[in-house]
Amino acid sequence: MDFDQLAEQVDRLTDELLGLEDAAARALGIQLKEAVEAIHREALVRIVRRLKQEESTLAALRELAQDPAVRAILMLHEILRPPPGARVQMALDEVRPYIHSHGGEVELVELQGGTVRLRLAGACQGCPGSQATLRNGVEQALRRHLPELERIELVEDAPASGALISPATIGVAGSPPPPYDPADGWRLALPLAQLAPGVLRRVVVEGGDLILAMVDGRPVCYHNTCAHMAMPLHDGDLSGGVLTCPWHGFAYLIASGECLTAPEVQLEPCPVRVRAGQIEVRV
Ligand code: FES
Repeated sequence: MDFDQLAEQVDRLTDELLGLEDAAARALGIQLKEAVEAIHREALVRIVRRLKQEESTLAALRELAQDPAVRAILMLHEILRPPPGARVQMALDEVRPYIHSHGGEVELVELQGGTVRLRLAGACQGCPGSQATLRNGVEQALRRHLPELERIELVEDAPASGALISPATIGVAGSPPPPYDPADGWRLALPLAQLAPGVLRRVVVEGGDLILAMVDGRPVCYHNTCAHMAMPLHDGDLSGGVLTCPWHGFAYLIASGECLTAPEVQLEPCPVRVRAGQIEVRV
């Protein structure tokens, strides 16, 4: 059997397992499936972690990841993340059932850097509940799948009859920024001018100890906590776009928070925005 046939067989057997009427047998089968997947994932993580340690083996890993079968398995185990556009679609697919239940629709218009432009249609447009829907549903799903998300913009077909995402909360383009209001959950971090490229800044705000850096002219923000043993990162070395933890050397891509040392972990991002020359963060 080739890879596609094997994958179809797995899908078919999984469907049969989920369709078993005997609940105990079904639960046992699901447990077995999850245990087998977990042990495979653990082994794959160790292989990938080792291959990432040297430039020559990293090149081999990149080449392997081009193979459709290897790529599919690494994605299945969330070791290799799908491209950003696919991850946005995964996030929207998660929240669509809820939006559909309110007679609405949401679709991706454009993804540019860390900015996601969405179009809402149907009953969602102008619906008083939409703002909460988006903030609590779409935004959270997007942040789970796209940690590098910086901004959500709403695109409407007709002239705006009411912003579905509050400009104060998300930062819809073209809206004048309202005055700083700590009650909305955003916190002043530091003036934009004080965040030089290539420099790591620590900022402690109400509710959070954070690190900030400038990436391609945009600030990024993470919790000041290493994913290895939760030690602070602010004394780490930031060079070539890689932040290295001062304690045991875990390395992270500062642009995305992705961990190069252990691919299964990453830095925890914080929403960040710039208004009136000030960097604001939401913890
Ligand atoms: S705490 Fe950062 S590498 Fe161990």
